Amino acid sequence: MLECWQAIKSTRNRAIMKTIAVISQKGGAGKTTIALNLAVAAVRSGHQCAVIDIDPQASAKSWHDLRQDDAPVVVSAQASRLPEILQTAHQNGAALVIIDTAPHSESAALAAARLADLVLVACRPSLLDLKAITTTIDLAALAKTQALAVLNTVPVRGGLKGDAEQVLKSYGVETAPDDGFHRLSAMLEGRGCSESAMLKMMTECQS
Ligand SMILES: Nc1ncnc2c1ncn2[C@@H]1O[C@H](COP(=O)(O)OP(=O)(O)OP(=O)(O)O)[C@@H](O)[C@H]1O
Ligand SMILES: [Mg+2]
Repeated sequence: MLECWQAIKSTRNRAIMKTIAVISQKGGAGKTTIALNLAVAAVRSGHQCAVIDIDPQASAKSWHDLRQDDAPVVVSAQASRLPEILQTAHQNGAALVIIDTAPHSESAALAAARLADLVLVACRPSLLDLKAITTTIDLAALAKTQALAVLNTVPVRGGLKGDAEQVLKSYGVETAPDDGFHRLSAMLEGRGCSESAMLKMMTECQS
């Protein structure tokens, strides 16, 4: 556990660590894909970044095992240990921590959302996903943390994105900007795509 932090050991930025929780009570919405791509984007733009994987499936950790690079650091942990691990991340100079959460686990997602500066609500732009997302939006509201929806697997063509954004807006949540980049192929090699929308979200979180 201790060695993994060596990848970001730094005395810079200690005062300004930010935390993003990626949540969705629905399984397969894209939480892990979004969390890891955001982490890679952060590393590529020079930020010390760690991912805390609180999903017992440990998908983010498995991705890191494939990766030929220590950064971003990925730590697998139980939600109850989040405060302690966030403190360790801060002490080791992390500028950004992203918490990847499990589906169907309200208490863990709520704990992560409460400790975060920004909540990203992962959602696919389908009728059933949009109906199911209200539970997650309520959870983000309960945490009293700023929330943005991230639409995932949006078809490049057609009006689905705009329609989904309108529905999310009617639920009181703005959608994060996204350029429609296909996130999957890079994931298969233990890498992540670095898209401008992800960097914009990070900038928003840091302001
Ligand atoms: N933008 C995308 N394009 C294509 N496939 C995607 C995209 N995002 C996610 N997927 C695929 O959808 C599946 C679910 O994605 P992911 O594991 O990121 O979701 P999740 O919300 O973390 O799931 P869980 O709730 O099980 O933790 C995976 O097989 C992933 O490769
Ligand atoms: Mg996941």
